Amino acid sequence: MIFYFSGTGNSKWVANKIAEKIGDKAYDISELRELPEITNEKKIGLVFPIYAWGVPEPMLTFAQKLKSEKAFTFGICTCGANAGKALKILSKIYHLDSCYSIIMPNNYIIGSDIDETSIILEKIKLAQKEMEKISNEIIQEEKVYRVTEGSFPTLKSSIINKGFNKYARNTVPFHVDKEKCIGCGLCAKMCPASTIEIVDGNPVWNKKCYQCLKCINNCPQRAIQYGQKTENRGRYNIKNYL
Ligand SMILES: Cc1cc2nc3c(=O)[nH]c(=O)nc-3n(C[C@H](O)[C@H](O)[C@H](O)COP(=O)(O)O)c2cc1C
Ligand code: SF4
Ligand code: SF4
Repeated sequence: MIFYFSGTGNSKWVANKIAEKIGDKAYDISELRELPEITNEKKIGLVFPIYAWGVPEPMLTFAQKLKSEKAFTFGICTCGANAGKALKILSKIYHLDSCYSIIMPNNYIIGSDIDETSIILEKIKLAQKEMEKISNEIIQEEKVYRVTEGSFPTLKSSIINKGFNKYARNTVPFHVDKEKCIGCGLCAKMCPASTIEIVDGNPVWNKKCYQCLKCINNCPQRAIQYGQKTENRGRYNIKNYL
């Protein structure tokens, strides 16, 4: 069984592809009402995006509920560039026999623009190759740690990640262009934190936010902005490139 969390589709795509290759099933943890029975599972995998060199809160909470079983366990993160010590930290909560990172297109449009199309396509192509290798290793139950940690990984996954969780997951900078918004409610429907409400035809953000950036990247009208810098930046979802 593979459990995944995904904002803009990269981790969902990876989870489903790996599941297909190893003959397993992938489940979106945001849609699970209760934890499925895992006692007799032979393999358990966790797939998620990297947020500030750390593991997204919903995946950490989910991993805390998992009991260590006899299964072969693996964690795969997707990241724009590098993952720091995120997998090592997760493995302390739920032991992972194997850990991987897969470099995928960047979706953090608050920090910088999306990658150029050629880079996006190249990353997806390389990821496909890497997934072949990972799947074979998982089938063989080889214990592997192949994670691109980047520079100063301990610092980034500790102090910087704490700062991100404390200060950056702020919904106040979200705003909507009322001229563009058509009140379709998609942003509210897809928010994994159920934090968006449609009030008088426009979205309003409550406090809780994972910063998955699903809302801003997927609004069909490009009506959502975060602060002043996202206006001229692209929007990313893997489904536009497959
Ligand atoms: C809040 C946030 C923080 C991010 N931090 C990092 C990071 O520290 N390192 C990195 O390489 N990519 C980072 N990214 C990029 C994502 O990890 C990457 O694009 C990922 O594949 C997105 O997966 P998804 O489409 O499943 O949501 C960040 C993205 C977001 C939204
Ligand atoms: S997804 Fe976009 S257009 Fe639809 S309600 Fe949200 S902001 Fe408005
Ligand atoms: S408000 Fe937007 S960024 Fe925050 S959790 Fe919901 S969809 Fe993700």
